[in-house]
Amino acid sequence: MLCFHTIEETRNAIKLARQEGKKIALVPTMGNLHSGHIKLIETARKHADFVVASVFVNPIQFGPNEDFDAYPRTLEQDSKKLSEQGAALLFAPSAAEMYPNGQQDQIRVGTPVIANALCGADRPDHFGGVTTVVSKLFNIVQPDVAVFGEKDYQQLAIIRQMTNDLCFPIEIVPMPTIREPSGLALSSRNGNLRPTDVEIAPLLHQNLNTYKNKIITGQRNFVELEKEATQILESHGFKVDYFSICDQRSLNRASAHQRELVILVAAKLGTVRLIDNIAFSV
Ligand code: PAF
Repeated sequence: MLCFHTIEETRNAIKLARQEGKKIALVPTMGNLHSGHIKLIETARKHADFVVASVFVNPIQFGPNEDFDAYPRTLEQDSKKLSEQGAALLFAPSAAEMYPNGQQDQIRVGTPVIANALCGADRPDHFGGVTTVVSKLFNIVQPDVAVFGEKDYQQLAIIRQMTNDLCFPIEIVPMPTIREPSGLALSSRNGNLRPTDVEIAPLLHQNLNTYKNKIITGQRNFVELEKEATQILESHGFKVDYFSICDQRSLNRASAHQRELVILVAAKLGTVRLIDNIAFSV
């Protein structure tokens, strides 16, 4: 597997692959790769002949009091895993390579309305940081397809809209969430959970299932259901940012007659912020 830290070397290698007629896939990551990321690579390999993975802990998508410094950085292990999975190229730039004019003076890509609620409500610059870095990665790699996980449901929706609105000629391939046997969605942040919180964390997914079933069996007072679910999680030690029953397309809070639903949750255990979601039709 090729491994480059500069845009120029990465572009040159991809140019050669393209000249050889290869179809290019991009899997953007922030590293500390787990089985969920491995599945992203597997999926990418099904769609393309030359898989590029990026590992970059993107500073501009973290708020001032968030876990940028604590975010796990394990490039050597990541590189080994990517190579074993058959990735063709690892692009692991520095912040200076990605933001040569400094982070403040970087031109930012905007975000659509769906970025304002949920994770965007408490993290006002987060999705702008994501759209900016993903646009840059799209321009550097110019992939035919790019693979993103459904665990970040709102991020996936924003990236889909950005790809359409800005006319990137890239197919966005979604990948279902990979879970521990306990139901806990895999996340690079899970490793930072305190041992006691590891036992509690799977309740997040269990709760989503419980409330999906309540809705499917006819309960329609979504405001009450959200309140109840939040209280249950908080009684187990979660600090809930949101537990929201939304319309799948608009990501607005769903009204009782809507049928294509997604429940999204974000909650902290100690300092670790976990997110999860469940989409379903009624
Ligand atoms: O989902 C992530 O890991 C990040 O938000 C992404 C898409 C790699 C951009 O930094």
